[in-house]
Amino acid sequence: MSAVLINGVAAARQLHDELCSAVETLVERGATPGLAVVLVGDDPASSVYVRNKVRRSVEAGLRSFHHELPASTSESDLLALIKRLNAAEDVDGILVQLPLPPHIDAQKVTAAIDPAKDVDGFHPINVGNLSLGAPALVACTPLGCMLLIKGVRKDLAGLSAVVVGRSNIVGKPLAQLLLRENCTVTIAHSRTKDLPLVCCGADILVAAAGRAGFIRGDWIKPGAIVIDVGINRIERDGKQQLVGDVDFEGARSVAGALTPVPGGVGPMTIACLLRNTIEAACRRRGISSPLANAAD
Ligand code: GUN
Repeated sequence: MSAVLINGVAAARQLHDELCSAVETLVERGATPGLAVVLVGDDPASSVYVRNKVRRSVEAGLRSFHHELPASTSESDLLALIKRLNAAEDVDGILVQLPLPPHIDAQKVTAAIDPAKDVDGFHPINVGNLSLGAPALVACTPLGCMLLIKGVRKDLAGLSAVVVGRSNIVGKPLAQLLLRENCTVTIAHSRTKDLPLVCCGADILVAAAGRAGFIRGDWIKPGAIVIDVGINRIERDGKQQLVGDVDFEGARSVAGALTPVPGGVGPMTIACLLRNTIEAACRRRGISSPLANAAD
């Protein structure tokens, strides 16, 4: 059996079209959503991500505010910018690209963002509300993963889900989302004993470990839904290549459905950022959202 490939590019395009229509509706109501993206320093990967976020938000019709600050920016100057963005009427979402330079405390910066504008879903209030099952802005990559999983199977109740990776950005919030769907959830990590055995029990296996080709085909339960969050740059046959955390060829003959890298989770992350910005704009302005509930 060969796994169905989950097409993240097509899913993101469809979501993007829905977002464009939603933004049109909001513009007609005089409520154009605004997204402020802040980049500190010139990390090449972060610059590419930020450029794509800004480009997509403009394409969707959002008002875009782009702040590029030098790596030498002080923590207090960054906090002062966030304070201004928190107070700005036309800014509905604020994203500070991570990682930040080492002299800036990322947790302090995240906590300074108005939770109502925290479209990354990283603020402690949003993290807490997610774990309480209360309305929250949810981190974009986990939200994108859930939309892809639910595109394969609507009812996840009772399934065993294993998330490999315990980051605050992906592993922990995704585990909460899977729990909300009544999965039996395990978060595995680098210290997990007998990881292959743990993975073998998963009906849904999410790889977010940050290690190229780490999850092998023989760790996968036949028919499982496998979501590969990894983006690793490696050199193969003298060429630079992007690969995930899953050994793609090994997984393909065992899994029921599998995301490729590139073209799986990645495109969904930006679409979910725009989605969160639209949701934040509607909630903040007290108007009903033209969007259906995410991941429902
Ligand atoms: N760096 C890597 N992923 C992300 C993300 O989802 N949001 C932000 N703000 N920074 C990141």
